[in-house]
Amino acid sequence: MDQLTITDERTGKTYKLPIVDGTIRALDLRQIRVDDKDFGLMAYDPAFMNTASCRSSVTYLDGDAGILRYRGYPIEQLAEKCTYLEVAWLLLFGELPNKQQLDGWEKEVGHHTLIHENVKQIIDAFRYDAHPMGILIGVCAALSTLYKDASDVKSAQLRRLQMVRLIGKMPTIAAFAYRHSLGQRVTYPDNRASYTGNFLKMLFDVGGDWQSHPVLERALEILFILHADHEQNCSTNAMRAVTSSQVDPFSGVAAATAALYGPLHGGANEAVLKMLAEIGSVAKVPEFIKSVKAGERRLMGFGHRVYKNYDPRARIIKECAYKVFEVTGKNPLLEIALELERIALQDAYFVDRKLYPNVDFYSGLIYQAMGFPTEMFPVLFAIPRTAGWLAQWDEQTRDPETKIARPRQIYCGAAKRDVPPLVGRG
Ligand code: CMC
Repeated sequence: MDQLTITDERTGKTYKLPIVDGTIRALDLRQIRVDDKDFGLMAYDPAFMNTASCRSSVTYLDGDAGILRYRGYPIEQLAEKCTYLEVAWLLLFGELPNKQQLDGWEKEVGHHTLIHENVKQIIDAFRYDAHPMGILIGVCAALSTLYKDASDVKSAQLRRLQMVRLIGKMPTIAAFAYRHSLGQRVTYPDNRASYTGNFLKMLFDVGGDWQSHPVLERALEILFILHADHEQNCSTNAMRAVTSSQVDPFSGVAAATAALYGPLHGGANEAVLKMLAEIGSVAKVPEFIKSVKAGERRLMGFGHRVYKNYDPRARIIKECAYKVFEVTGKNPLLEIALELERIALQDAYFVDRKLYPNVDFYSGLIYQAMGFPTEMFPVLFAIPRTAGWLAQWDEQTRDPETKIARPRQIYCGAAKRDVPPLVGRG
């Protein structure tokens, strides 16, 4: 067995720690102590920069090589050959479905697209200008009050039922939230349409005769596939941490959606569009890059904790953007984005820090061209990522090593002191 030998220079003692899968167990450090009163050595790793929090067989990511695979299948092949629901099945159950399984799965998800009228009333109670992500977070949490069986997380059968419910209902909640923001009555799900076709219909069909364009429907399908999972990112970590308490998955997905809402995560594509609009013209790009290099702001849609190479999803999205623009006409912000990318990819600031376009750099341009308001962009991330969150949740629930997530800290506050009387405190 591979081993790591550590000598503690405080005591002169030597320890041998097993190395498995290129990793040492942090708990093995605990034996390294100065004396019996010593708690034992800990690893300090804010933001989990170098800590594996789980063993997972869902998604493989090599950030240096720009590789992303779901259950071993390259993302490029999945985006080219599969539908979103096929990929969701793959993530959840480990293998691609055969024809019969896929037909059954599509029907099963279709049966769960409706939401209870009580849930619709919850959406109606939000203010007309509420951000749809706020609505999504609130409504996901509210679903746990409807499906009381969801708290039985030990039952594999019930876990599967909640997965289908969530995958079926997320587009409906999102579309109803959107229609609420417009003050329009909702369009109920049409289960004859594809997953993305039905979603587009619920968003945009007002008179009953709206038809989605096949190129745009497929583009959304590809974007959904690309966003379906991304191993231990911020929102997935939130899903795992929150559900490690054995709370139901609706509450877990509400927490994961909240994590995704932030501008450094799923809110980035919205931030990219705001940034491009603010830059306003290709001529102003150099000035903007200067302010980024001066540390005054970030180039949104660039950089990634794990990818130190071109994000493979960004490459597929860029190709997809051109197909969408053939139908919708070119997004006027595209030229600014291309110029930003051109300059950044040859500028030492970005090259030295290995900052490349990520998944969010071009996705917003497509969404905008397809007619989505910017506030819906993170929602378009949350819907497909639900499959990934649920796959990771199910995996964690089945993992015998799972315990409630509870990190340690290094206490750096005041030493013990006595409470002084109120009168006379500084
Ligand atoms: N623009 C300018 N400088 C940047 C950027 C950026 N977008 N990203 C990182 N840097 C610099 C940063 O200032 C730092 O420089 P220095 O070493 O001189 O201090 C260096 O690069 C390392 O940055 P970091 O903040 O330590 O990197 P991180 O791994 O903590 O952050 C990130 C990753 C994605 C939060 C960050 O790159 C970022 O804020 N990007 C913009 C927001 C964005 O596009 N987010 C979407 C991520 S992909 C979708 C998803 O998975 O959610």
